[in-house]
Amino acid sequence: MFKLRIESPDSFAIEYAANVLKKEGLVAFPTETVYGLGGIVWSERATRRIFEVKGRPSDNPLIVHISSMEMLERVASRIPEEAYMLIKKTWPGPLTLILHKSSEIPRIVTGGLETVAVRMPSHPVALELINQTNEPVAAPSANLSGRPSPTSGRHVVNDLLGRIEVILDAGETLYGIESTVVNILTDPPVLLRPGAVPVEEIEKILGRRIVVPGFARGVEAVEKALSPGMKYRHYAPAAKVVLIEASSYERTCLSKLADIVRVFIASKTLEKPCVAIPVDSLENYERISVKIFTMGDRNNIYEVAKSLFSVLRAADEEKCNLLIVEGIPEEGLGLAVMNRLRKAASERFIVEC
Ligand code: TXA
Ligand code: MG
Repeated sequence: MFKLRIESPDSFAIEYAANVLKKEGLVAFPTETVYGLGGIVWSERATRRIFEVKGRPSDNPLIVHISSMEMLERVASRIPEEAYMLIKKTWPGPLTLILHKSSEIPRIVTGGLETVAVRMPSHPVALELINQTNEPVAAPSANLSGRPSPTSGRHVVNDLLGRIEVILDAGETLYGIESTVVNILTDPPVLLRPGAVPVEEIEKILGRRIVVPGFARGVEAVEKALSPGMKYRHYAPAAKVVLIEASSYERTCLSKLADIVRVFIASKTLEKPCVAIPVDSLENYERISVKIFTMGDRNNIYEVAKSLFSVLRAADEEKCNLLIVEGIPEEGLGLAVMNRLRKAASERFIVEC
């Protein structure tokens, strides 16, 4: 394990890690979204091990990470014009595109699909690692399958220490939520996973609406072929998650939400309930005796997204066995946050205000 500073990453550590990748080993590395668990894309041995280490179902394909446009041409073919429009405005950055795979990509990477998910991360450590390896790197999030994605080196250590060759720890990630996944091969394009690039921004770049299916919002079961990863229970702490949403998040409604959370807690006498709320709800929780985690502010959803996964993990460290979470509006990054929360939740309530 190497600790790196983001401004001046230790070149020895990155060179070491790149050599491990070239020799078909596995390296966990930071990206601007969450940490990734990387293996060289052409290696069946490395990519197979990624699935084993994570306990990941083999039909859930990996994202291929690249550091140059030259690498893009090696992993994808027949790239549509609209893909280039998005690439120009968002790469390097947290947008993953579904493209036709090149024939060299092993089928294990794409879970048997003819398409491949590709992104160019903007984190300096990720870019330098891929550059030095000089090959594309297949990498899912560096968590055990089903657990919340890792947003700090410590999270990766908790899940994967001793199971892989190298962990590059550069502290907390910038967004704290995964990349947006868009299938650009369909007409109109389809959002497969909301993430760090808001849908609104993608639509602005393309100059047209894209399809946001119910499963991308987290409210419907997934049609298997569309987005294999989204059909699995995800992002979940050991605690049972109960999500309390509201039809609006106006101030008056927030106090109603808190009243409902109170009643809920009172009815669960045998469990250790904890609560996770944005700070703008905190004033409604004055006389409450359970552990309260705060996650950003509804007026700055970027902060909510950034703290979401670490709060889910903290609930486990606190040994909460019930975590009651308040929802947020679905605008901008709010869509990605609500998708993760709905997937983590085993019960969901909607309060009409
Ligand atoms: O921000 C991120 O995207 C992080 C960092 C490490 O880059 N990676 C990440 O990977 O979140 P992972 O494996 O946890 O999620 C990949 C998602 C899954 O939902 C998977 O089903 C989908 O991308 N995916 C990958 N290839 C696909 C394909 N060919 N067609 C449809 N969905 C695909
Ligand atoms: Mg993941």
